[in-house]
Amino acid sequence: MTAITVEGKRQFTGRLQVPGDKSISHRALMIAALGQRPCTIRGLSNGDDVVRTRHAVEALGAQVAMAESGDVTVTGGVCGARSPIDLGNSGTGIRLLAGLVAGFDFTTTLDGDASIRQRPMDRIINPLTAMGASISGSGANGSLAPLTIEGRPLRGIEYTLPVASAQVKSAVLFAALRAEGPTTVHEAVPTRAHTEEMLAAAGVRLERGSSSVTVWPGEVEPPDVEVPGDPSQAAFWVVGACVAPDSDLVVENVYLGQARGGFIEVLRRMGADITVDSASGDVRARSSELKGTRVTAEELPGCIDEVPILAVAAAAAEGDTAFEGVGELRVKESDRVVAIAQLLDGLGAECRIDGDMLAITGVGRAEALGSGTVDSRGDHRMAMAAAIAGAVGRGSMTVEGFEATNTSYPSFARHLEHSTGWTP
Ligand code: S3P
Repeated sequence: MTAITVEGKRQFTGRLQVPGDKSISHRALMIAALGQRPCTIRGLSNGDDVVRTRHAVEALGAQVAMAESGDVTVTGGVCGARSPIDLGNSGTGIRLLAGLVAGFDFTTTLDGDASIRQRPMDRIINPLTAMGASISGSGANGSLAPLTIEGRPLRGIEYTLPVASAQVKSAVLFAALRAEGPTTVHEAVPTRAHTEEMLAAAGVRLERGSSSVTVWPGEVEPPDVEVPGDPSQAAFWVVGACVAPDSDLVVENVYLGQARGGFIEVLRRMGADITVDSASGDVRARSSELKGTRVTAEELPGCIDEVPILAVAAAAAEGDTAFEGVGELRVKESDRVVAIAQLLDGLGAECRIDGDMLAITGVGRAEALGSGTVDSRGDHRMAMAAAIAGAVGRGSMTVEGFEATNTSYPSFARHLEHSTGWTP
């Protein structure tokens, strides 16, 4: 296990380019694998999750060539994997691929690490089974990874998401490409829309309503893809710059489409000085005096992955912040409700868990945040949130299990050095 110690009272300055968006990267590889002609993906995330998906589509039969620049050229062709596919820590990888392979005429086993083997898979097994898929999992209810998927002819369904989840929506939409007849997914709260946007760009017949999307089966003609910067990674620097005194930082070329820019709205409501250049996607954040806010359950899917770092902002802010409807955070890479409470406890901010609500009373300013040692619990976002908390606090923060950052952001430590002068 790798531990790092970040000394506090830092400023966040300069310009940064975060890795390519993880959600878009997974989907770009999967859609490319379904096509016939070569296509090039630029700016792909270099995190382990996406590396796993790259290997997965190769194992399924696509040809993948990576240039020194990091550009990846994929020549599609899915014909089945010879051995189980290991998706590591990636919930997006395993859930979306389950939908992608369900209608093919071969059997696939999808597996992952200890965390993935505990995360709920019934949420995709249920709708895919309703489409005619055959999926057997492990555990008492057969609803945990590893998942063995025996390809079957599928039929289109009409499905209302029981939880706000882009992963579930996307698993169903990928399966829909090989189903008989159209498939419609309804969602009460909008979740990230990458799958529908990218399938439409790949020539798939698709109709989007205000709270639904319908996909018809058909061929996929993947275009070349330029992956923009990941807003979930940008959020760490934006919060660092808002919370730390004398800071002024720009994150370049950030994707801010549906359900991805919610953290900026929340921070602005808290009083953050953030400007967005919508043409370039550059996000500029400057030191601000933050006040508590209420993040509603409807708002949460739009900032679901940013809650750990927003909780750090809330801890530094003056007054109370409430995150409502946080149940989904319990089934992420770790139980983030518990992990956030543990981190905030070390920072000296009061944190209460009340059913599905996480309530935080801030200490009023960054320099009042305490220090200590925290374990990442193998969760990349908790590791990065803790490192930023350390950088803005009055003491120092030791983050154990820091290697978890490799899941999505292998250059995080280098960027911390670049933007704050911290030396590892
Ligand atoms: C993702 C959807 C979200 C998010 C995850 C990536 C995606 O998960 O937390 O990091 O790429 O579709 P849920 O759909 O389970 O909320």
